[in-house]
Amino acid sequence: MPYTPAADRYDRMTYRRCGRSGLMLPAISLGLWHNFGHDTPHGVKQAICRTAFDHGITHFDLANNYGPPPGSAEEAFGDILRTDFAGFRDQLIISSKAGYLMWDGPHGEWGSRKYLIASCDQSLKRMGLDYVDIFYSHRVDPDTPLEETMGALDHIVRSGRALYVGISSYNSARTREAAAILKELGTPCVIHQPSYSILNRWVEDDGLKETLDDLGIGSIAFTPLAQGILTSKYLGGIPAGSRAAQGKSLDPGTITPRALASVRALADVAAARGQTLAQMALAWVLRPGKTGPGITSALIGASRPEQVTDCAGAIRNLDFSAAELAAIDAIAEEPEINLWAQSSSA
Ligand SMILES: NC(=O)c1ccc[n+]([C@@H]2O[C@H](COP(=O)([O-])OP(=O)(O)OC[C@H]3O[C@@H](n4cnc5c(N)ncnc54)[C@H](OP(=O)(O)O)[C@@H]3O)[C@@H](O)[C@H]2O)c1
Repeated sequence: MPYTPAADRYDRMTYRRCGRSGLMLPAISLGLWHNFGHDTPHGVKQAICRTAFDHGITHFDLANNYGPPPGSAEEAFGDILRTDFAGFRDQLIISSKAGYLMWDGPHGEWGSRKYLIASCDQSLKRMGLDYVDIFYSHRVDPDTPLEETMGALDHIVRSGRALYVGISSYNSARTREAAAILKELGTPCVIHQPSYSILNRWVEDDGLKETLDDLGIGSIAFTPLAQGILTSKYLGGIPAGSRAAQGKSLDPGTITPRALASVRALADVAAARGQTLAQMALAWVLRPGKTGPGITSALIGASRPEQVTDCAGAIRNLDFSAAELAAIDAIAEEPEINLWAQSSSA
C-alpha cells in the first residue's frame, strides 16, 4: 500500500530554531540507533518512520554504526527513503555521524580526516543520498588535532556532502575550541548532540548549556527517556523484548528498586500534569534554559509506532510551574547511566 503522509502533519508539531542558524528542527526528532538493524522486521521500521513523519517529525538521526550490523540502519532508512519518502527529500532533515568503530584497521574510527570523509561517503551510498543535512563528529578524539577533525567537517560541507555540521558529546571546553576552529574555517558549528535527561544532567554541571547559548549553537538531546527508564514500561518489571532485556546498551542492573521508586514518583508528577511520564520527560528536556532558549529538539528512539505517537504528544504541554520543577528535582537522583561521560570529558 503506497504511503501518503498525513496532510495535517505540520500542524501537529512545533518547530524550533537551531541556535542562531536558519535551520528549524521539530521539537521531537527520531533516532535510528536501535530497532533499525537486521534484528527488526522492515515493516516495523517503516511503520515507525511513517508515524513520525505523520506527526511532523521531519528530522531522522542516523550514524554510520547504527544496526546491527553496523551500517544496516542507514541501509534500511535508504529503502524507506526510496519507497515511502520519495518526493519528500526537501521536507526532511537527515543526519549521520562518524566517530565510533566502523571498519577494521587504523582508519575505521575516531576523528581523522581520512576516516570522517570516507565514512561520510559510505553513509551517503548506504542511504542513496547526494548529501546529508547534518554531519557530526560523533565523539572527541583525544589523539587527533581538533583542527584536523574540524577541517574534515568543513571539507564535507564545502564538497557538498553535508549542509551543516555538528559535534556530539564534546564537553564545554572542547565545544568552544571546536566552534572557534569551525568559525575560522567559515563553516559554523550549527548543532551539538549531547545526552541529557532528568536523570543525566552533565550538560548542566559542565556548563555546556550556557556555552551553547553563548555561542548560538543549537542542541539536540539524545536518550531523553534514559533509554526507556523515564517511561512507565519498567514499573512492573522488565518486559520481554524491551531494551533492558536485549543485553545491548541498557544495563538492567541500572533498573534498581530505588531507581524505580523515583520513576514511580515522577510518573505521579506527570499524571498530575495530564501527561504520560515519557511526555513529561521530553517536555522537561525542552524547557527554556537559564541563559537562552534551551535544548532545540529531543531525540527519541522507538521500538513501536505507538511510542512515537505518545512522545509526539509531549508538545501539548511544554510549560512547567516552579513547583513542578522543584518536585522533579527532589525526586531525581543521578544514577550512573551516562555511558558517554568518557568522551564528554576527553
Ligand atoms: N550521539 C550519540 O553518541 C548518541 C548516543 C545514543 C543515542 N543517540 C541518538 O539518540 C537517539 C535516541 O536514543 P535512545 O533510543 O536511547 O532514546 P530514548 O528516547 O531515551 O529511549 C528510547 C527507548 O525508550 C522506549 N520508549 C520510547 N518511547 C516510549 C514511550 N512513549 N513509552 C514507552 N517506552 C518508550 C523504547 O524502548 P524499548 O525499545 O524497550 O521499547 C525506546 O527504544 C538514538 O536513536 C540516536 O539517534 C546518539
